[in-house]
Amino acid sequence: MKKVYVGMSADLIHPGHLNIINEATKLGEVIVGLLTDEAIASYKRLPYMAFKERQTVVSAIKGVSQIIAQDTLDYVPNLLSIRPDYVVHGDDWRDGVQKQTRQKVIDTLTAWGGELIEIPYTKGISSTKLNLALREIGILPEHRLSSLRRLLAVKPILRFLEVHNGLTGSIVEHTHITTEAGLCEFDGMWISSLTDSTARAKPDIELIDLSSRIRTLEEVFEVTTKPLIFDGDTGGLAEHFAFTVRTLERLGVSAIIIEDKTGLKKNSLLGTDVEQTQESIELFSHKINVGKKAQISKDFMIVARIESLILGRGQQDALMRAEKYIQAGADAIMIHSRQKKPDEIFAFCDAYSKLPDRRPLIAVPSSYSQVTEDELKEKGVNIVIYANHLLRSAYPAMKKTAESILCHERAFEADENIMSINEILNLVPGTK
Ligand code: SPV
Ligand code: MG
Repeated sequence: MKKVYVGMSADLIHPGHLNIINEATKLGEVIVGLLTDEAIASYKRLPYMAFKERQTVVSAIKGVSQIIAQDTLDYVPNLLSIRPDYVVHGDDWRDGVQKQTRQKVIDTLTAWGGELIEIPYTKGISSTKLNLALREIGILPEHRLSSLRRLLAVKPILRFLEVHNGLTGSIVEHTHITTEAGLCEFDGMWISSLTDSTARAKPDIELIDLSSRIRTLEEVFEVTTKPLIFDGDTGGLAEHFAFTVRTLERLGVSAIIIEDKTGLKKNSLLGTDVEQTQESIELFSHKINVGKKAQISKDFMIVARIESLILGRGQQDALMRAEKYIQAGADAIMIHSRQKKPDEIFAFCDAYSKLPDRRPLIAVPSSYSQVTEDELKEKGVNIVIYANHLLRSAYPAMKKTAESILCHERAFEADENIMSINEILNLVPGTK
């Protein structure tokens, strides 16, 4: 019997998939190379169903005789070990991200006289369409919550961007570019205390209460499906923190970051220019512990944010705290710095990576913004948060428009820098 290899993600099974498998069975024994979550996340969105779930579904499809994991988008490793007579695929990969992958399949097969058979694309249905429809419906809290851990498990570094209302949420949800490597987009959202406060023209001193912060969060959740990390400031009293954790879990927040400061919280980027007090290791560890005990879901993450570098306490202090906070139950560490260069962050990363019980590491390159994601990844950073960039870009633009109207006593001169009326009317679906 001839061997037929069919590579697929099989996340949202539709008649197009069944057609391909059906055609493949006519050629011989069908081996499905099921892309792992890592392989899928390397070029498009994380699948809705995890590998095991997809495996269960595909194994029930008539005509599939074997399923093996395909660890990369690249088919070559599996083709070399199986040496199939045929590879069957839809003809929709001739252009776009998978073009190179396709060429490599053809080249590899020639070594043993194998053949690529392309099945005409099933019209009217596609995973992309189903994906869009699903995004429109939204997501249930537990699925959103757990998606951060799933992403951490399959991607070397995650990219998060600040949100402070529904509109910024939809920017993070939908903004994407297509590169050689595939789809490039943000993995999730950071609801910043700085921008949630500043957007209301209030200082970032834990003045905006939890109910108000949650109102912003709900607005963002209404129009997004991606995971969200909540800036929890100091987390407040340990007794209160326990309730905050459960509230956020119920809503579908994936993680809360709390910083080891006490007293009136001031923004970290002010550093030692203002009075800021670091919390004792004992009390902060206790707070983490109380939070972990209060947690209901298994996937929610409590992240300990270390302010030692911000407050000039040095790397040794930061490292010792990381160790203690992890012992207290922290699921990840955020290390912050306000230096203009990433050197002290890099030094911390190197030492941190040697910790025996290392947890995911988060960096926030606001002041050392020249650092690249590749460099951070190289240093072991697992999540990069762009903490305030949407508000910092919106405010100067709005101010400029206000000044232009005052200056010219009409709006005409401002027109060239603002979106057209047509654009704003088309921005939000359902407006027309
Ligand atoms: C925030 O975005 O509110 C933060 C990060 O906590 S920072 O502003 O750098 O302190
Ligand atoms: Mg903050």
